[in-house]
Amino acid sequence: MIIEPIDLYSSERRENAKVRVQSVSKRFGEGEAEISALEHVDLVIQKNDFLSIVGPSGCGKSTLLKILAGFEKPSEGAVFMDNKPISGPNAERGVVFQQGALFTWMTVLNNIAFGPMSCGKPRHELRDIAKHYIDLVGLDGFENRYPYELSGGMQQRVGIARALANDPELLLMDEPFAALDQQTRELLQEEIKRIWEKTHKTILWITHSIEEALFLSTHVLVMTARPGRVKSSFITGFSNAKDHLVTTSLEFTQAKRKIFELLREEAIISETQKD
Ligand SMILES: Nc1ncnc2c1ncn2[C@@H]1O[C@H](COP(=O)(O)OP(=O)(O)OP(=O)(O)O)[C@@H](O)[C@H]1O
Ligand SMILES: [Mg+2]
Repeated sequence: MIIEPIDLYSSERRENAKVRVQSVSKRFGEGEAEISALEHVDLVIQKNDFLSIVGPSGCGKSTLLKILAGFEKPSEGAVFMDNKPISGPNAERGVVFQQGALFTWMTVLNNIAFGPMSCGKPRHELRDIAKHYIDLVGLDGFENRYPYELSGGMQQRVGIARALANDPELLLMDEPFAALDQQTRELLQEEIKRIWEKTHKTILWITHSIEEALFLSTHVLVMTARPGRVKSSFITGFSNAKDHLVTTSLEFTQAKRKIFELLREEAIISETQKD
C-alpha cells in the first residue's frame, strides 16, 4: 500500500518547517454561543510538500487555512512561516477559494496583473508577468476576456494564475475545484500537479474528495469532527503519477478505502453535532 502513517509534527519536520502550526485552537462567539472550531492542532508543512486536508464539513478546515493566510487569528497557539509569526495577509501566501474571487470588471490579463502591480512591479513588466501565468494555466488567447465570458473551470484557472502571479512561496487552496464537473476537475488536477512540479511551490490543499487528495498530494491529513484536531496523517506515493490511470490501481483503491474509513467515523460524529 503506497500510504504510510507519518507524524507531521516530528522534531525532524519541525527543524525544516516552511510552515509550523503550533497547538492552535480557535473559538468563535462567546458564552452559550461559543463554538470551538479547532483544538490543539500541531502541524508542519515542509518546502515543496503538497499537503491535503480532508475532514467532515464544519470541522475547521477553512478556519485553519484562514489562520495561515493571516485573515484570522488563533485563540490559542501560534502559526509561523519560515520561523516568523504570521500576523496578517502577505503576498508570500497566495490564496484560492472555491469560487474564484475575480474582479468582474477587469479582463483576465488585468486580474492577473493586479497583484504584481500592487506589489510595486514596474508597469512595463506587468504584461509579461501576466502572460507567463496565463500560458502556465493554459489560458492563452483569453487574456482580453472578462470573467463572465469564461466557464467555471476557466475562472478557476484565472484564480490560480492570479495567486501564482505574486510568486508566493505557499499556496493555500480551499476546495478550489469543488464547483467543477468531474472531467474539468480531473484535467485541472493534472495541471495543478504539472504546475507544482514546475514551480516547486509548497501547497496546502483542502478538499472533500479523497481521490483528489490522494492523486495530488505528498501528504494527507484527516481531521476529526469539530472541534477539528489531527486524527491521522499519511505520506503518500501517488503524487508522481502524471494522469488519472493510477486511480484505478489496487494500491490506490486500498489507500482510498483506508482514508474513507477514517473519515466516515468522523462524518458520523459530525452528523450528530448541533451548532
Ligand atoms: N467567522 C465565523 N464566525 C463564527 N463561526 C464561524 C466563523 N467561521 C467559521 N465558523 C464556525 O466554525 C466551524 C468551522 O468552520 P469551517 O468553515 O472552518 O469548517 P470547514 O471544515 O471548512 O467546513 P466545510 O467543509 O463545510 O467547508 C463551523 O462550525 C463554523 O460555523
Ligand atoms: Mg470550508
